[in-house]
Amino acid sequence: MDDVRGAVKPANEKVISPAVIKRLPRYYRYLGDLLKNGVVRISSKELSERMNVTASQIRQDLNNFGGFGQQGYGYNVEFLYREMGKILGLDKTNNIIIIGAGNLGQALANNQEFASNGFSIVGLFDVNPRLVGMAVRGVEVYDIDMLEDFVRDHEVMIAALTLPKSKAPAIAEKLYSLGIKALWNFAPVDFNLPDDVLVENVHLSESIMTLSYRIHSRN
Ligand code: NAI
Repeated sequence: MDDVRGAVKPANEKVISPAVIKRLPRYYRYLGDLLKNGVVRISSKELSERMNVTASQIRQDLNNFGGFGQQGYGYNVEFLYREMGKILGLDKTNNIIIIGAGNLGQALANNQEFASNGFSIVGLFDVNPRLVGMAVRGVEVYDIDMLEDFVRDHEVMIAALTLPKSKAPAIAEKLYSLGIKALWNFAPVDFNLPDDVLVENVHLSESIMTLSYRIHSRN
């Protein structure tokens, strides 16, 4: 088992800290923007200035995965973007189901950016008969009773939980029993699940409280 919860080991067995993992999507986004703007290569100094991270931090972060830079050349943007995508698993099919097809569930399903990053929303599930049968951006809303059959017949990698917090723990356990081991949890509740389940919590309210703290601690 990894000694740091949330840390992962790449192929070379080196433990990658959660702080590094958190920075990877930001590198990926910057590199994608550079690529779109026709930038072919970039030095760690230039990248660091754009990203407001030190150049040595960038080098250290990338060295965890083998470096990718060349002395005197910097980084080839397209190569690094592609490699970063592979590290993030974006070169694989990542099918997502959404449990709870209300405001937030539908907003997620309507977001086009997921698809461009290789995530595919393959189904939404709800208990509300008024929502069941409708489609959000071409993806069907199924009755929650269909969950088991659906998971058996489709390769589902991730379940997004956008249902009331009172209902989320039971659904999380159900998903675990169906073999889904990656939860993207938006419900404001923590789960008591075995260690082999990866849970990524997204809580906008915690983010605004952090901003509030920073505003008020400045005074
Ligand atoms: P909503 O009420 O619009 O949608 C919730 C949906 O879940 C409803 O359609 C309801 O029928 C469905 N549902 C209820 N029980 C279910 C079950 N057992 N199985 C499947 N579906 C079920 O609520 P909204 O605004 O979309 O919020 C959803 C969740 O996301 C809430 O827990 C809310 O607190 C949370 N939330 C989190 C945010 C974040 O930043 N993490 C931001 C906004 C909401």
